[in-house]
Amino acid sequence: MLHINSESIEKMESRYQANLFNTISGFKSANLIGTADKNGKTNLAIFNSVIHIGAKPPYLGFILRPTTVERHTYENIKETNYYTLNHVHESFIAQAHQTSAKYDREVSEFKACGFEEEYLDNFHPPYVKESKIKLGLQFEEEHLIKANDTILIIGKILHAYLDEKLISKDGSVDISEAGTVTISGLYEYLKTTKLKKFKYAKP
Ligand SMILES: Cc1cc2nc3c(=O)[nH]c(=O)nc-3n(C[C@H](O)[C@H](O)[C@H](O)COP(=O)(O)O)c2cc1C
Repeated sequence: MLHINSESIEKMESRYQANLFNTISGFKSANLIGTADKNGKTNLAIFNSVIHIGAKPPYLGFILRPTTVERHTYENIKETNYYTLNHVHESFIAQAHQTSAKYDREVSEFKACGFEEEYLDNFHPPYVKESKIKLGLQFEEEHLIKANDTILIIGKILHAYLDEKLISKDGSVDISEAGTVTISGLYEYLKTTKLKKFKYAKP
């Protein structure tokens, strides 16, 4: 079996290293984050680092790359406090991936990548109409990760929109049934197959 160690990592070509360590941590969530600045100018970008922080109250986190270049999602969140998180489905993976391109601030990825903005219940930022599971969040906290200058953004879920049929009796959402995809690294999108659902494990 190949053994990769700190010495071989030091010598790695940069893109190769990025791909290796973006994929080796496992499958990731696929989400489009929708925002708008205070004047209503919209922005949409794909993020694969969304994680569960807690359920009571419901908090989600995501990792933002260092702010050494313009980060429109981050700027809009800081300006307005609100953002939407929209699941990515098989039918629009190409458009979702395209939102990662560095569009000018003036260009909305909704329009450029072929998504429809959806405004629900007077929430400032737009949801992605095409998405079957969408959440409206309020910015709560940010934490600079000193190790590499990335930022952990934490938000509270204020709104959730999904088909009731996707929620089972115990409250779990069948995201596989919804056709939500998963991501390996930065370039590969996959569909999922449910294997089994277990009960709460006891010793
Ligand atoms: C599959 C995929 C996942 C990504 N995940 C993240 C992420 O978790 N955090 C991040 O800061 N950028 C991530 N990016 C990069 C952003 O999508 C990209 O920087 C985008 O241009 C940000 O747009 P904005 O400046 O409009 O916010 C990802 C890109 C791809 C292709």
